[in-house]
Amino acid sequence: MIDKIKSHIEEAKAFHTDSKEKLEEFRIKYLGSKGLLRELFADMRNVPNEMRKDFGLIVNQLKNTAEDKVAAIQEQLESKEVVKGIYGDVTRPGEPINIGSRHPISIVKNQIIDIFSNVGFNVSEGPEIEDDWHNFTALNLPEYHPARDMQDTFFIQTNPDILLRTHTSSVQVRYMENNQPPIRTISPGRVFRNEDISSRSHCIFHQVEGLYIDKDVSFADLKQTLLYFTKEMFGKSKIRLRPSYFPFTEPSAEVDIYWGLNNEIDYRITKGTGWLEIMGCGMVDPNVLKNCNINPDEYTGFAFGMGIERIAMLLYQIGDIRMFYENDVRFLEQFKSSI
Ligand code: PHE
Repeated sequence: MIDKIKSHIEEAKAFHTDSKEKLEEFRIKYLGSKGLLRELFADMRNVPNEMRKDFGLIVNQLKNTAEDKVAAIQEQLESKEVVKGIYGDVTRPGEPINIGSRHPISIVKNQIIDIFSNVGFNVSEGPEIEDDWHNFTALNLPEYHPARDMQDTFFIQTNPDILLRTHTSSVQVRYMENNQPPIRTISPGRVFRNEDISSRSHCIFHQVEGLYIDKDVSFADLKQTLLYFTKEMFGKSKIRLRPSYFPFTEPSAEVDIYWGLNNEIDYRITKGTGWLEIMGCGMVDPNVLKNCNINPDEYTGFAFGMGIERIAMLLYQIGDIRMFYENDVRFLEQFKSSI
């Protein structure tokens, strides 16, 4: 008899199933109200006294084995069911959230805005689709002026009066039309030029232009402002101004910073000179002030303009301007740690 019970114990221990029904059959067979254990406990009466203790122990062992087995398989089956549920396993840790990064153009634009905000410039914006007056004529570039060819223009359909702005100087015209001096404003924004796309130039890029108009503003103020900017932006304090030409400023200049010749890259980007051109500038032409209803006998001012891509390429040593527009995450992810 005892041997038989022992073989039941082995049988119960070895039992395994994936099915609820089979488990229920197993439970009924051992633990049910007409099950094996009921029978064995009932038989206890007939067991001779001296064997009763051993018999009781072994029957209890069978009971515990069967109960543990049922509980263990039940738990397994339930956990499988949760996984199959519509929410999956809600106790699993969440997927990591992929946080994006600012675009390098935005990072550099914000830096430039911060630097000029610190010395009292506000930010002004205007439309990307402009009329001829704000993009050209008011800026001392009347129709048929040869300097219009300096900036190849996209026109909107066949209307020569409506175009995509070629610079954000158009925003400065709008600002002067609506505000009297003192004016201290910078105009960041996207501009468009009908140029071939290459590693160095694109038909869409970004600019920040600045404008300062007040009584007695001189070229010395312009130089000092540019020096402050280059120190803050690049940590470089040597600049030079080369005479240049823009229709809306007189005199005009190109600004170079002394980048240095410390390594091979410096030689390459400065073409061995150590100098880098970063922007154009000049004293606002009196005609421009007049066009915008500001009295040139009372007020003078300076303006400057720079390309954001060019500066970002310098700061981050990016060799191809097209990378800014491809939005390849492997490129963009590299700017995660920047502000
Ligand atoms: N508007 C000029 C450009 O797009 C830059 C500039 C701005 C030059 C202001 C002088 C003064 O190239």
